[in-house]
Amino acid sequence: MTAVEKKLVEAASDARRNAHAPYSGYKVGAAVIDEKGKIYSGCNVENAAYPEGSCAEANAIGAMVASGARRIVAIAAVGGKDKIEACTPCGGCRQRIAEFADDKTRIVLLGDGNEITSYSIDELLPASFSL
Ligand code: THU
Repeated sequence: MTAVEKKLVEAASDARRNAHAPYSGYKVGAAVIDEKGKIYSGCNVENAAYPEGSCAEANAIGAMVASGARRIVAIAAVGGKDKIEACTPCGGCRQRIAEFADDKTRIVLLGDGNEITSYSIDELLPASFSL
């Protein structure tokens, strides 16, 4: 694990502690690092009206954009119900990451043995839509 990966995974784990997931019980934290080294985090926020819930990655990316940054250097996600498992981003979040990613962007996941898996956006969302 690189120093940046470690920092990002820690930020994602911290955010996961605040996840609001009373319906699924599946808590997720995410953290994005931008070109200036600034970190933005988010957690999933579920809602009694289920479709209104939002993903951790979406909220972390929203925080990055609200701060004026536009490029994801890396994004980490830490998720799981009773134990941490590699939580690969949902389809919608892959598209959200793609909006601010380039071929160097790393998507970093923490697995159940504390191991890191990292992907490019092209691996997770090949032949993606863009305007
Ligand atoms: N979830 C995320 O926050 N990120 C993902 O990449 C996958 C799923 C959330 C949505 C929902 O609150 C819970 O995990 C179970 O689907």
